Amino acid sequence: MTERLENMKIITTEDYNELSEKAAKIIASKLILKPKSILGLATGSTPIGTYKELIRLYNEKIISFNEAITFNLDEYYDLDYENVNSYHYFMNKNLFSSIDIKKENINIPSGLAESLEKECESYESKIESCGGVDIQILGIGRNGHIGFNEPHCKFGSTTHVVSLDEDTRRANARFFRNIEEVPKKAITMGIKTIMNAKEILLLVSGEDKSKAIYETVYGNVTESVPASVLQLHPNVTVIVDKKGAKFL
Ligand code: F6R
Repeated sequence: MTERLENMKIITTEDYNELSEKAAKIIASKLILKPKSILGLATGSTPIGTYKELIRLYNEKIISFNEAITFNLDEYYDLDYENVNSYHYFMNKNLFSSIDIKKENINIPSGLAESLEKECESYESKIESCGGVDIQILGIGRNGHIGFNEPHCKFGSTTHVVSLDEDTRRANARFFRNIEEVPKKAITMGIKTIMNAKEILLLVSGEDKSKAIYETVYGNVTESVPASVLQLHPNVTVIVDKKGAKFL
């Protein structure tokens, strides 16, 4: 195990609500300082509270998404956008339908594209042509994955198609009727895409993530714990609740 690097700022919160409030404040301040912010967004359970809090700030007219552009981390392969498990559906339900973001400024990789390879290339170049992600929100998997970059992924990867790890499919099966329904493939921003974001906000909640975040922060930088690459990013903030911070 190595020493924690100074560039990782760690904020420990009492609980999930405080985590969500703190994360939303950081994103809100970006939007206030730069209304045209390019926001990198994640799905999963962890950011739901943050999105709720952002909606509250929007309803109170403290922030607006009118000029913001968003890029989501990932999407399942071959799930209709209306499917309740698609990330398109998730983002609409948990954030986009309740704020003033322009439809044309929302970007989520399409798992329905005729050529997934072309979809990956054009996603990557769209991020670049917008000037790059200003702040990327991330959750973390129990196995240290970020986006759908599973253990042993390549640190040099850009947006690409992945086969999902059994552990990830099992963890995500809670949203489906059974594990067979969980897609075996997905499109995800690569580690290089994520590392290109100017700032990263990693949200960690619950004891089941405590080992993964410990290895991310204190472990060796290794492709077997994808999130450990964040030690090499110059501007990472980890917001972790007390349960997730068990070993920190
Ligand atoms: C979501 C994503 C995933 C999740 C991770 C944690 O877009 O890319 O890496 O962030 O699986 O998921 P939750 O928050 O459900 O524990």
